[in-house]
Amino acid sequence: MAEQSRSLDFLGELRRTHHCNELRLGNVGSRAVLMGWVHRRRDLGSLVFIHLRDREGITQVVFNKELNKEVHANAELLRSEFVVAVEGPVVQRSEDTINPELKTGEVEIQAESLLILNVARTPPFPIDEDVSISEDVRLKYRYVDIRRARMQRNLMLRHRVSFAIRDNLNDQGFLELETPFMTRSTPEGARDFLVPSRVNLGSYYALPQSPQLFKQLLMIGGYDKYFQIVRCFRDEDLRADRQPEFTQIDLEMSFAQPETIYDVIEKLVVGVCAASEHKVPALPLPRISYAEAIEKYGTDKPDLRLPAMSRVDDLFPSEVAGTMPLSAILIPKVRQTTRRERDELKAVGQERNLRVFEDIKRLDRDFAEQMQTVRERTGFQEGDLLFLVTSLKDPDGPKPQEQVLQAAGDLRLEIGHKYADRHNLFAPSDLRFLWVTEFPMFEWAKDENRWNAAHHPFTAPLNEDIDKLESNPAICRSKAYDLVLNGIELGSGSIRIHRGDVQSKVFSALGFTDQEARQRFGFFLEALEYGTPPHGGIALGLDRLIMLLAGESSIRDVIPFPKTTKGTDLMCEAPSTIPTRQLSELGIQLSPQAQQALQTK
Ligand code: AMO
Repeated sequence: MAEQSRSLDFLGELRRTHHCNELRLGNVGSRAVLMGWVHRRRDLGSLVFIHLRDREGITQVVFNKELNKEVHANAELLRSEFVVAVEGPVVQRSEDTINPELKTGEVEIQAESLLILNVARTPPFPIDEDVSISEDVRLKYRYVDIRRARMQRNLMLRHRVSFAIRDNLNDQGFLELETPFMTRSTPEGARDFLVPSRVNLGSYYALPQSPQLFKQLLMIGGYDKYFQIVRCFRDEDLRADRQPEFTQIDLEMSFAQPETIYDVIEKLVVGVCAASEHKVPALPLPRISYAEAIEKYGTDKPDLRLPAMSRVDDLFPSEVAGTMPLSAILIPKVRQTTRRERDELKAVGQERNLRVFEDIKRLDRDFAEQMQTVRERTGFQEGDLLFLVTSLKDPDGPKPQEQVLQAAGDLRLEIGHKYADRHNLFAPSDLRFLWVTEFPMFEWAKDENRWNAAHHPFTAPLNEDIDKLESNPAICRSKAYDLVLNGIELGSGSIRIHRGDVQSKVFSALGFTDQEARQRFGFFLEALEYGTPPHGGIALGLDRLIMLLAGESSIRDVIPFPKTTKGTDLMCEAPSTIPTRQLSELGIQLSPQAQQALQTK
């Protein structure tokens, strides 16, 4: 490395010998070449120290003026995020300079040469500190943001888990097969992203909201046990756990019952927990029906880290219970609450149209015996916060009881989170999976004045509900199931309809005429007539899974290049306008509305 103490911008013969998290005491005495970014720099005059970083970790490098003047002089030029190569012997650090925070902290490299591979502008925010930075800035300079330890941890976890998923499903006999991205619109509830066709002017492909129909067609094609880690595209309102393009672990099996799917996914959950160093949950995972979930948690995505609500209407006279559900909510280990906190609880309840009975002393006085039973039902222990809720005013929606239970469930969560710090209830490492089963077949779409498929129109009804599909859609339940983790819907799936006659009934319940159904899904309905095995499957949201495993609260923090909640990429400024010439090649002209929107931008 004769010339290497001078700034060069190429590696020449230089070869990296180790990554920055590799050197240990055992390497002392040997020589090493490391390459990476200048994470931190300390200049003590005759000694310059840098922390050299790559994606694996950090190693300290020391430049000693007395040992090598020229190299030391160059080290003085170094700044944060310069990219460098250093070479020299690995030496043991003295006892008092060991850095216990670094895995390489017992050694350092005594640099004998330094190659500055690239200089860097001052980064827009520090990489070496866990400081809070506005997300817009992080997203604009995402390539800098993903150098930070937290993002590195998350993205490397994502890799490990994805790899474990492939391994696990391969071991369980699944085939990874690809399905098209440029396809035809399928009905999954969100809007499609469309791709204009230049060759077929006036026609559009749709980006898939999921590979739903293709995976069913693979079953018809005889490829039992398919899976794919696949990108899906949905034009919908975005939130912390929603992106316009996101990744699913998508699978489908032939000759499957719901239990067959549960079994595969539970084995997958075990593999994922092991790969991410989480406690492996006991199997089988808990299962509750949709109806029970609403009753006990007021939601179809229960967070089991908080105890369930208990119905107590049967215990109290009607002036307390009314005609709506009366539920007891228990938040454990809150210890004392102040008068003000209890008033607040009442007020928060009121905002949700709930009447809250929080004065337990009074309830004890008026209903001593009943309260004893309430305590038994809720598993009350000294120091727990206990209160009863019912509706303030009977709601007038289509399912008033469900509405009251949902409001109670929201209150349970809000109050649980309020006191979470007192008892570490919501520790992210506490992963509580469960299955929610027997979802309703249909949801009433108020605006459209008709029934919509609660999951998708290919979901099979429970056998005992098939003959009610047309006469009483409101009470039909489906063979659909969700996998829920800590209050978040992680995955969703169902056993599919594999018979044309049942599919027709479902389309008719959804208000499609035969002709409309043929027009929209003709190719698929035809395929069902060529020998279709009973089949079913599920898709898990990979981004949500990684978010929960990483203890993050937004999926943006586990995606290398995510979009904002407005669906924009701040770094490359997508979506962008397209020159008129390119648009006209595609047969597209901007509407006055679109032109106006562009002008006001
Ligand atoms: P579903 O639409 O419920 O089912 O989606 C399955 C899972 O995908 C994840 N998910 C999302 N993640 C991030 N951003 C989004 N916008 C987003 N939308 C959905 C969730 C969800 O549970 N084809 C069916 C599955 C099947 O029936 O097999 C489907 O896509 O974690």
